[in-house]
Amino acid sequence: MNLEQIKALDDRYHMNVYSRQPVAFVRGEGARLWDTDGKEYLDFLAGIAVMSVGHSHPKVVEAIRAQSGTLTHVSNLFYTEPQAVLAERLHDLLGWGKVFFSNSGAEANECALKLARRWARARGSADKSGVVVALGSFHGRTFTTLAATGQPHKHEPFAPLPAWFTYVALNDEEALDVAVDDGTTAVMLEVVQGEGGVRLATPEYLTAARKFCEERGSALIFDEVQTGLGRTGKWFAFQHYDVAPDIVTLAKALGGGLPIGACIARDEVADAFKPGDHATTFGGGPVPCSAALAVLDVIESEGLVARAAEAGEQLMEQLSRATSGSNAVKEIRGLGLLIAVELNGDWAGDIVGKALEKGLVVNNVTPNAVRLAPPLIVTDDEIARAVEIVAGILSEYGGTS
Ligand SMILES: Cc1ncc(COP(=O)(O)O)c(C=O)c1O
Repeated sequence: MNLEQIKALDDRYHMNVYSRQPVAFVRGEGARLWDTDGKEYLDFLAGIAVMSVGHSHPKVVEAIRAQSGTLTHVSNLFYTEPQAVLAERLHDLLGWGKVFFSNSGAEANECALKLARRWARARGSADKSGVVVALGSFHGRTFTTLAATGQPHKHEPFAPLPAWFTYVALNDEEALDVAVDDGTTAVMLEVVQGEGGVRLATPEYLTAARKFCEERGSALIFDEVQTGLGRTGKWFAFQHYDVAPDIVTLAKALGGGLPIGACIARDEVADAFKPGDHATTFGGGPVPCSAALAVLDVIESEGLVARAAEAGEQLMEQLSRATSGSNAVKEIRGLGLLIAVELNGDWAGDIVGKALEKGLVVNNVTPNAVRLAPPLIVTDDEIARAVEIVAGILSEYGGTS
């Protein structure tokens, strides 16, 4: 099918919830994609920070092929080896914890919020129900994770939402001090707000969150759905800071493109869940778990955590240099290979369209910020090419000083 045919079907038969770009992809390899016309693209979005080991990595492809040809699904009424081994692997990466596998980031966060409530009850705190989150955050699209998302304009069409969330400005320790009280079950934060425009929490803010949680008996949840598994140049973004959570959530990169999320909690927190408290039919199935094990193997064997740190610095530095005379750019910020170019106007949508025409995939994470999140296997040449395209487009905006 060509793009027009696919688009006609989608327009008629798929719910109109996505503002899609006028491109249909048919193939991917490494950091490259091809569309229905055979046009090649450099993928600096990686399916929104998912394809960290690149498209069609042979080890991930083989793991999926082998597992799906052996055992695809039996439900969580039974044990399967890939799930048990992946749980151990995530425990070992963190150095602590027990895991619940979900199918998505939102579901991993649902699990974290239910677990925090259950942990409070297990400690006899019947009155704890509140959750404190940051403005600008993104935690998912289910009713509860939408409520947890600190973006009021996303709430409005669906009100009323669960009402037990308190929103505080990111990096405002005083506001956090006021918001976290004895009724607070959990504080849930992104170490770097991805969908919010790649905004970094300060060390002081995270340290304050840890302290208030300890003082007031709340669980500290870090949502590392976007930042986890090497993207920021550490296995977990919180490892850039001297602060560790009680619960961490993962998804995106974990399955190498297959849907899997994980909620990992310290043993004493995890043990608050009893059989029947939480469940999923598909979560942690043998195929996504086998894919995830292959993804973790590739990240380790190809040194991709260190590569993300190095490539991220390179990309930031080259972007800054190439746009240094531009009045279009307000700020370039990020951590590892999660980077935003903030603009002096709402041009991000236009710029993304122009980049696509030139064969570069990026996205307008906010109206005035373009996000770059390439696979961690991105090469020096690919970085140089992406910078050239972005800088070329930006030169058309804002005039030059
Ligand atoms: C930090 C964060 N949490 C949660 C989610 C929701 O994940 P999913 O779309 O897999 O439900 C996202 C998705 O962008 C995210 O970036």
